[in-house]
Amino acid sequence: MRVLITGSDGYLGALVAPYLSARGFDVVGLDTGYYKSGWLCSEHVIGTETGRGGWVPATLVRDIRDVTAEDLRGFDAIVHMAELSNDPLGDLIGEVTYDINHRGSVHLAECAKQAGVRRFVYMSSCSVYGAADGTVDETSPLNPLTAYARCKAMVERDLTAMADDDFSPTFLRNATAFGASPRMRFDIVLNNLSGLAWVERTIAMTSDGSPWRPLVHGLDIAQAIGCALSADRDTVHTLVVNVGADENNLTVRDIASLVADEFPDCAVTFGPPSPDQRSYRVDFTRIRTVFPEFSARWDVAAGAAQLHRVYQAIDLTAEVFHGRGHTRLKQIEYLIGTGQLDSRLFWAEPALATAGV
Ligand SMILES: NC(=O)c1ccc[n+]([C@@H]2O[C@H](COP(=O)([O-])OP(=O)(O)OC[C@H]3O[C@@H](n4cnc5c(N)ncnc54)[C@H](O)[C@@H]3O)[C@@H](O)[C@H]2O)c1
Repeated sequence: MRVLITGSDGYLGALVAPYLSARGFDVVGLDTGYYKSGWLCSEHVIGTETGRGGWVPATLVRDIRDVTAEDLRGFDAIVHMAELSNDPLGDLIGEVTYDINHRGSVHLAECAKQAGVRRFVYMSSCSVYGAADGTVDETSPLNPLTAYARCKAMVERDLTAMADDDFSPTFLRNATAFGASPRMRFDIVLNNLSGLAWVERTIAMTSDGSPWRPLVHGLDIAQAIGCALSADRDTVHTLVVNVGADENNLTVRDIASLVADEFPDCAVTFGPPSPDQRSYRVDFTRIRTVFPEFSARWDVAAGAAQLHRVYQAIDLTAEVFHGRGHTRLKQIEYLIGTGQLDSRLFWAEPALATAGV
């Protein structure tokens, strides 16, 4: 199966592309390269289970808003991950978030349909549930609280309406990811708290730690994508499925405590209650039902141990941890501030997209 992975130069893309390639998928990447400079270390150091250490796919350097049907001809499936990937970015540039994450994603899907691509696996997010009492499942009402989450919900709605006999979108509502990746992000909760523990010897939370955050390892997301691509068309046609594991439904306080177990010489400190209202506990029954072969292999303690091992192996410094290379908001602010990206996040000069700035 020939698969195009958009966002292949991102945190998850750098895991998913080799994971699928190692399992026999013919993988091509597509990415505009916002975070190309953010390379942490090779897969050899991370010791991921892809068996393709250092391998990267041939990659089309393209903004999804500029993609044409011609670019997509010949692919059997698209795994779409190329979006602005968190709430702070969405807050910085609200309208551009809609431009890329909603309209750009719908444009990509329209081109895919025109090009005869039959499968479209979309990386949605559990953040569509927003703030919810009790445990939510795929049938629960959506309550997206941010531009980022609203876009995810709108893409799900619009692509579902496009589904027909020849076009099958699938929506993976991923929990918050964790774990080591060659293109590391330190702006997601476990990677952040464990990095703080390593470089500063404190686990300093900016909130009181009360919100619930289901977590999932990036390699378990890769596994779910593999399941979606391998499943019968009828199983995945317009399927919405939460990706994660019940035992990884934790409060931020629980997550900090597991980090403290792994980095025992650190002080844990709390901040005031967070203005960020997101809090949700998620039911992961459906993924086990529709993909019986899926089983989340990583719990949070194992993730913290993996991160500890990698930080030690590469001697992670405070400079790298706090640098723009691994924090999405800082890198985009830098690229705009230096005139390399315009206000709509298009490159000022096409050559910059391949330069790894
Ligand atoms: N990481 C998580 O915790 C998490 C959880 C749920 C869902 N997701 C979703 O998974 C996807 C990947 O997440 P990630 O953590 O790897 O994010 P990331 O920011 O590391 O990677 C996104 C990639 O997309 C590319 N990109 C962004 N806008 C683009 C555009 N207009 N055209 C072409 N390329 C563009 C970027 O250059 C980057 O390489 C995103 O859609 C994100 O919303 C992530």
